[in-house]
Amino acid sequence: MKALVKCVKEVFASFRKRGVWATLQILVPEVLFDWRYGTDTFSLVDSQNLSGFPEDLKQFTAGYQGANSLLFKKTMALVAKKRGKSFQEDTFIDYGCGKGRALLMATDWGFKRIIGVELSDTLCEVAEENKRIFAKKRPHTTPIEVVQCDATQYEVPKDANVFFFFNPFRGQILQTVLEKVAAQAPKGSVFVYLNPTEPEAFEQRGLKKFGQVQLSRANVDALVYSL
Ligand SMILES: C[S@@+](CC[C@H](N)C(=O)[O-])C[C@H]1O[C@@H](n2cnc3c(N)ncnc32)[C@H](O)[C@@H]1O
Repeated sequence: MKALVKCVKEVFASFRKRGVWATLQILVPEVLFDWRYGTDTFSLVDSQNLSGFPEDLKQFTAGYQGANSLLFKKTMALVAKKRGKSFQEDTFIDYGCGKGRALLMATDWGFKRIIGVELSDTLCEVAEENKRIFAKKRPHTTPIEVVQCDATQYEVPKDANVFFFFNPFRGQILQTVLEKVAAQAPKGSVFVYLNPTEPEAFEQRGLKKFGQVQLSRANVDALVYSL
């Protein structure tokens, strides 16, 4: 019930911020994703209801919400255009992958590897189930790995170079993760930040902004950085 109320509130906030037309453009693909693949990525999970989460970490996250497919597509298209090459040598890591919607959408971009890091045990189970359902419709796409782990503890794979953050956590957790990733990732690595609430954390790590995506004039919906 709480999740439904949150969802309705977000829709009304978007009406006020972006207007009705822009909100519908965002909302329709949101609903269509699960309808198309039979997955379960739409329903929100409030931070207080994240199972397997230590209490002291809940304050740093707003919980689960899947990345919007229109925003994801536009952001990845911007990254692809700016880099001017395909992703076939690249490894995509979603920090806080939740039910795995961004992981599933990343399969459209021809990555060599796709990895999701998620702390909640039940969300990892849902992501695994979504992987299985999705693979039936898309049997030949890049296999997806889901790792159950606190993002601050995750060892960055040597070949990882596209790092995706859909506002997964904030404050000290975000800073610790960015410090670790920026210290270990190869030069030229890309950092995608959807619904950016703390861009200064990225700038403080010396990351250079190279693009942004706006679904309406009212709001910056994604920022893209390189190392
Ligand atoms: C807004 S959701 C993003 C979902 C997914 N990335 C997508 O775009 O479809 C943020 C996710 O980050 C996870 N999260 C928050 N703090 C975390 C942490 N310290 N370690 C790993 N995952 C975390 C939450 O459980 C939640 O599923």
